[in-house]
Amino acid sequence: MSEKIKRIAVLTSGGDAPGMNAAIRAVVRSCAYHDVECVGVFRGLQGLIEGDFKELGPRSVKNIINRGGTFLKSARSQEFRTKAGRQEAYDNLKESNIDALVVIGGDGTFTGAKVFNEEYDFPIVGIPGTIDNDINGTDYTIGYDTALNTVVEAIDKIRDTANSHNRLFLVEVMGRDAGDIALNAGIGAGAEEILIPEQDMGKDRLVASLRRSKKSGKSSSIVVVAEGDQIGKNIMELADYIRENLDEYEVKVTVLGHIQRGGTPSCYDRVLGSRLGVGAVDALLKGERDVMIGISHNKLVSVPFTEAIKGENEIDLDLIRVADITSV
Ligand code: F6P
Repeated sequence: MSEKIKRIAVLTSGGDAPGMNAAIRAVVRSCAYHDVECVGVFRGLQGLIEGDFKELGPRSVKNIINRGGTFLKSARSQEFRTKAGRQEAYDNLKESNIDALVVIGGDGTFTGAKVFNEEYDFPIVGIPGTIDNDINGTDYTIGYDTALNTVVEAIDKIRDTANSHNRLFLVEVMGRDAGDIALNAGIGAGAEEILIPEQDMGKDRLVASLRRSKKSGKSSSIVVVAEGDQIGKNIMELADYIRENLDEYEVKVTVLGHIQRGGTPSCYDRVLGSRLGVGAVDALLKGERDVMIGISHNKLVSVPFTEAIKGENEIDLDLIRVADITSV
């Protein structure tokens, strides 16, 4: 165990994700287990700048494992992007005698953490928490599994209406730069077509495919559209285009929005959050810095922030094939 680390701070930053509370709880209790003090930072990286800190003990995190959102609250801090903001954050950490930091968030959070580490050589370990599952080096991010289940449940309900009225529904799901939610929830909910940012299907091919499926005897259809998809960039315009070029269906649009981010975390996300929280404290105490603790082949792994934020979201081609075959 590193002699130097006696006090660890933990924060959640960026979009909240179900299971973040489980990760906070695991960090706090790991600290207690290792006899290290733990401090919670409210409102993410912005809270570092504002010095919004609170001592946390094992009982401070009781009854949160089952709750969505983040009890530490979150923010997307513009001020942390400035040198002056980061300097204030560093001064506050030093003033509170904090030796290391655990940040739970997505690529924006890790980018900030990496810059901060480079500038101040401050020990930071990250935990991937975002419903988008768009972080390199980890098979899953906290919140993704719960979001998938929420999306599938919502589409199941939409299907009842689609089927009863012989309608075509375009359902927009989250995933600014990544199609993971769309692709997996689309397969799970039996969607006809799935539009993702990583693949440009083109409007004409979409219309041709919907026409074919109507001819093959389908009476209703669900098309899942990731919010970052290029042809569905404006889902209302896409709906108009389909209406103009395909009169076989009545077309409706549902944008699921933030209902995908909230709600009770699934068991998977609670266990993942717990494992990553324990792993993050272990990593800091072993002297690791500037890394994310992720999960690969069901084992914890340390991934340098530079790798984690590479921004190359590789889509599983096998899943695309499964989606194509099962929607025939
Ligand atoms: O990063 C998670 C995410 O839910 C994205 O899928 C979405 O584009 C974005 O956050 C929305 O962010 P906000 O809640 O700040 O509008």
